[in-house]
Amino acid sequence: MPASRQIASDLGVSRNTVTGALSQLIAEGFLVARPGSGTFVAAGFERHQPEAVNWQQQPQLPGLSHYGTALAAKAMPEVHVQLPFTLGIPDLRAFPLSVWNRVQRQQQDRLHLLGYDGYQGYAPLREALADYLRVSRQVQCHADQIVITQGAQQAISLCAQVLLDPGDPVLVENPGYVGARRALQAHAAALTPVDVDHRGLQPAQLPAASAAKIMYITPTHHYPLGGIMSAPDRLELLDWAARTGTWLIEDDYDSEFHFHGHPIAALQGMAAQTPVLYLGSFSKTLFPALRLGYLVLPEPLVGSFLHAKRHMDGESPLLQQATVAQFVQEGHFQRHLRRMRVRYREKWEHLSALIASELDGLATPVAESAGMHLVLRIPGVNDDALVRDLTDAGFGGTALSSYYVGQDRPTGLALGFANTDERQRIAGVCRLRELILSHRKS
Ligand SMILES: Cc1ncc(COP(=O)(O)O)c(C=O)c1O
Repeated sequence: MPASRQIASDLGVSRNTVTGALSQLIAEGFLVARPGSGTFVAAGFERHQPEAVNWQQQPQLPGLSHYGTALAAKAMPEVHVQLPFTLGIPDLRAFPLSVWNRVQRQQQDRLHLLGYDGYQGYAPLREALADYLRVSRQVQCHADQIVITQGAQQAISLCAQVLLDPGDPVLVENPGYVGARRALQAHAAALTPVDVDHRGLQPAQLPAASAAKIMYITPTHHYPLGGIMSAPDRLELLDWAARTGTWLIEDDYDSEFHFHGHPIAALQGMAAQTPVLYLGSFSKTLFPALRLGYLVLPEPLVGSFLHAKRHMDGESPLLQQATVAQFVQEGHFQRHLRRMRVRYREKWEHLSALIASELDGLATPVAESAGMHLVLRIPGVNDDALVRDLTDAGFGGTALSSYYVGQDRPTGLALGFANTDERQRIAGVCRLRELILSHRKS
């Protein structure tokens, strides 16, 4: 190499800069310094110029595994925007943010929460959750059976990963939650759809002699139609599951928001030791960005799920778990749920009244129950195109047909109302009326 003074003068930079760069190149092995002779390019360095790989050309990329291919083949559209009527978004403006921040500030000074804690989840959160689930959802459980997950979606994926081999038969609701279907399909499960209507799953639809290993189900508030299985039907389902050796994955995603009487008790706790893997989420009851959900498992299964959780993502975020634990222990969680129940009921009643007056003869609500969204049957339209136009107009919503598998897919819309205000509901329904009329003509 030329002398450092020479390089500095050639490049018009300071000598310090050049000696710094040369030291770095020596430290990384590109150059060698020979005391008394100078600095030289390291031997063999020229031979190791790597060839550029073309990232745009498929054969040059590493091939996908069966799992990667299965995910790519049935990719779920990503929801980028939170428009009024986008599904699954709670009323974030009504969230008690100052209380939450105070609780989080108290927790964030605890050094213990900066380290590792345990794959099963923060013990005080599991204790608080077990109390809540026993009292409010009638789930029969204690804290040792609970695994805290990163959202309900991870809970579903863990069930698929731990319990399923390729080709294992699995029953799913039709229509049903696409996120669950995709997670099961990614593990090459052989899915058989079971038809569900506005009353929830009817036991008569269940195959008498099922070889299914598991069935994914939303019994206390069907997703998306909103039907609630009657108590006798739920008992019959449990009986069928025990008889056929089918384990039920009960997704209790939003049953807190019931507008007629008390929320319906979870299937898991209707009898002792039911064949149920129960899961839920704080995404609807608190907020989705928390990414906290939970599984309630029979104790002998907990260890296997923890091995999988460890390799999937390790622990769920500790500060968030501790904040939720204190939020529940101090009663803020229950208070928030009570307020939201009233608020969502008002929104649902307002939207239902608007639909009755503005969309009469054009759209029909599917079920009486509500939660955070409602479903409209809209015959004679291409509901994917309707959703595209609705999005262009600044409103969210999901095509009803997208929840179905098979040929006979009813058309319509699922509308999330929790994240809407009065003005948006009025404007949205008026726009929807115009769009349905124009789509029916075309
Ligand atoms: C029925 C159902 N289950 C599970 C989930 C996943 O929730 P999470 O945000 O906790 O992953 C959703 C999300 O919308 C859902 O609608």
